[in-house]
Amino acid sequence: MDHDRWLAELTEFLRIPSISTLPEHDADCRRAAEWVARDLRRLGCRDVAFLGSETHPVVWGVGPEVPGAPTLLIYGHYDVQPPDPLNEWTAPPFEPSVRDGRIYARGAADDKGQVFCLLRAMEVSGTPSVNLRFLIEGEEEYGSKVLFDLLRREPERTRADVALVADMSYVAPGWPAVYTTLRGMCYAEITVRTAKHDLHSGEYGGAAPNAHEELCRLLTRLKGTDGKINIPGLYAAVKAPSARERALWKRLPFREKEFLHRRVQAKALTGLKGRSVFERLWALPTFEIHGITGGFTGVGAKTVIPAEATAKVSLRLVPNQKMKTVERQVAAAVKRLVPKYVTVTVRFLHGADPAQVRIDHPAFQLLDRAFHEVVGRGIVAARAGGSIPVVPALGRQGAPVLLTGIGLPDDRLHAPDEKLDLQQLWDGVRVFQRFFELLGQGGKP
Ligand code: BES
Ligand code: MN
Ligand code: MN
Repeated sequence: MDHDRWLAELTEFLRIPSISTLPEHDADCRRAAEWVARDLRRLGCRDVAFLGSETHPVVWGVGPEVPGAPTLLIYGHYDVQPPDPLNEWTAPPFEPSVRDGRIYARGAADDKGQVFCLLRAMEVSGTPSVNLRFLIEGEEEYGSKVLFDLLRREPERTRADVALVADMSYVAPGWPAVYTTLRGMCYAEITVRTAKHDLHSGEYGGAAPNAHEELCRLLTRLKGTDGKINIPGLYAAVKAPSARERALWKRLPFREKEFLHRRVQAKALTGLKGRSVFERLWALPTFEIHGITGGFTGVGAKTVIPAEATAKVSLRLVPNQKMKTVERQVAAAVKRLVPKYVTVTVRFLHGADPAQVRIDHPAFQLLDRAFHEVVGRGIVAARAGGSIPVVPALGRQGAPVLLTGIGLPDDRLHAPDEKLDLQQLWDGVRVFQRFFELLGQGGKP
């Protein structure tokens, strides 16, 4: 295994700022797609194609035909989240740097490093033992619209014996995992307007309504200090995890103190009292505020009563909840919670239904064996708090969806100093190589 060459290639991939949510990076997203396509061609893939969009295409590739062998569909994404706050990075996010055996860059773990890992697994496989299909998208971090539309038009793209998604992490160092659920998402922009235009806070203050004040009140009404979300009907579909599943969670390597002090690095955890951390992270919906804009936020001071304020918020959804239903519930709750003199609009930017997968297909045992052989421990079943919008659609043609990954819990996805441990990457290449081999040996199911 040529680690030096691989590191240089990964660095090249990570240097491309393919931030899907920012239009000024459209050309970079296209460049990242081209990087993936070039690699697929170099690995001997045919029918390599850009599908569904000029700027954020889904990259499709078909590996060499292996008659009689099963078909493995590989999903990943080449787009990344915005890197801000920039001043909190030790080195610039798109100038990958290696320190202490880790590569630091936006996308190192989520998901370019993992896509790269799968491509190298194909490379070291030489003559592959399975029929590989690749669906590498460029809009995962913005709701996957391009891929959804493509799969609606061409559902046969997901026809496969097994689908593999490596966009997650081990549950702890040395503990590879497979995930049974992902949360869904409902992302909204809430705008509050209180007057025709901004007002002098001396002339009008004390008598005129303030958009920021109304927005803050609305937001704190939507979720109380007890962590409960005040959206009528929201919890109706939520199913409590079974006693059996909660017992399994107790056996996972997890210490609440360590989670608080090493990972969250805050002074306290918050959320619903009386529910375990795993239940709050995996089995309950959330409401988070991502950013608030409007009024005066520049340097210096301006005395103004803002007429408009906007909050970007999102809810995570758990199995059995439906994105469309939650959108209606959010819109209704917001309307109900603002006073009559406030005009409020809710715009939904993107979203996803939650995903739930069964893990009883024989392919899971092969993945378990591959991890066991390479890293000395098989996979444990866990749930994930994050979302991958397209996962329910990937399984719609009947393929079992293997949700796994080679990252570690402290990779700092979406945050400053995102990293990937190089040993995880090199191990991952061997794990996936072995998995392809085992899957091929089984022959067509
Ligand atoms: N790889 C993550 C999803 C993830 C993270 C799953 C951690 C399990 C654990 C993915 O790239 C992601 O961040 N998805 C977005 C989707 C959203 C924008 C619709 C997310 O979860 O915020
Ligand atoms: Mn990801
Ligand atoms: Mn992500």
